Amino acid sequence: MSKVRQRAVKSTASKSSNSSAGQNSAQENVENFGVLAILLRVVTIISVTIGLLFAVGLNISPFTALPIDDEMPALPMNEGVFAENERLTSGIKINNLLGPESVVEDGNNNLYTGLDDGRIVRIAPSNEGEIGGGQVKTLFSGKLSGVYNTMPDKNRTRPLGIRLKDNMLYVADAAYGFLTLNLKTNALQVLVAPNDVTPAMRFPDDLVFSEGGKYLYLTDVSHTYDIRNLAYSVLSGLCDGRVFRFNLKTKKIKTVVTGLCSANGIELTHDGRYLLISETLRSRVRIVDIMTFKTKKLVHLPAMPDNIRRNSKGTYWVAASNPRTGQSDYLQKYPIVRQAIGGLLTHDQIFKTVNRRSNMLFEMDSRGKILQSLHDRDGALTHGFSQATELSDGRLALSGYSSNFLSILNLKDSIPIGDGSH
Ligand SMILES: *[C@@H]1O[C@H](CO)[C@@H](O)[C@H](O)[C@H]1NC(C)=O
Repeated sequence: MSKVRQRAVKSTASKSSNSSAGQNSAQENVENFGVLAILLRVVTIISVTIGLLFAVGLNISPFTALPIDDEMPALPMNEGVFAENERLTSGIKINNLLGPESVVEDGNNNLYTGLDDGRIVRIAPSNEGEIGGGQVKTLFSGKLSGVYNTMPDKNRTRPLGIRLKDNMLYVADAAYGFLTLNLKTNALQVLVAPNDVTPAMRFPDDLVFSEGGKYLYLTDVSHTYDIRNLAYSVLSGLCDGRVFRFNLKTKKIKTVVTGLCSANGIELTHDGRYLLISETLRSRVRIVDIMTFKTKKLVHLPAMPDNIRRNSKGTYWVAASNPRTGQSDYLQKYPIVRQAIGGLLTHDQIFKTVNRRSNMLFEMDSRGKILQSLHDRDGALTHGFSQATELSDGRLALSGYSSNFLSILNLKDSIPIGDGSH
């Protein structure tokens, strides 16, 4: 009896507690639905706003982004020959040189470079004969008037790739094309103007002599984007870079390679048979046969290559900046995202995301095999690293288009500890 009662009581209690729980959860449900509804509304508003922003970005973007059908393959980024190291971080800095993009040395240990302010300068050796240790003298002011250039709102040179032959500097200039500077007379002349070809060059960048010096091979990064629109050029996916062959005697110019994803640095192999061309936008070096101008090989790299220069070992130094990341690889796949970014951010904002503090130097052989890599992940010696130049004393001059110094690396000091193979 008492058992039954207990049970009854219990059952009543449980009933009442059940029903109250039921009421509570119904109330909670109503509340939850309220929260859910608000959340849904917020999500909708955010999505619509993002969608609208996206649409606006797409619409006002200064470029139409193209799909990339030759995506960069995945690379073992931090392994093997690309393993992270600090071998490009200790050396000497020569300060007060803004944006030395390329360097060349003459027979008297003088260095020559072009700067961001348009000047071409000579750096003498020190009194003790140390290369890079002496005075800096301006050979050309950067002002050139009355001739065609790619940026008529500025009318100022931007010397980039530089070569030396018979007391004459040959300079690729982003605004004026290809120039010569006579080192005896200091006379500057336009050798090839950007509009000597059709369509006109917008971003002349580098040059190299053929074996024997009959021809000059010239690069134009793009005939659409000038040097100030580099970030748009990257995001657009447009590959309109070209290489020209200029006959120094007849002055005839011929387009020999087209459709490059930026035609940046250029070098000739030691045997004179191939051109090595940096396609910066795809983080690769293209090896092209000099007779047929057909591609022999694409060499993929974990960063964006710039100038390439031969060395006395018979191999090549490839300077590179802005290592590939998951994001940069991802962006390749989505042209509409790239285009919308172009509309929503300013060029400077986009350009700031280019990691110019993180740089790498690759040693490559003539077949495109990467033999070693040296890293400077935090701008110790490099910024916008654009060239490594072997000096006559065996050291390497490191130059960068956005650096405010030139640096010199003693390779002997950067041998990995415990590596007996070097
Ligand atoms: C640049 O030079 C051209 C002619 O050589 C001239 O028409 C133009 O006004 C100049 N631009 C500036 C900003 O001085």
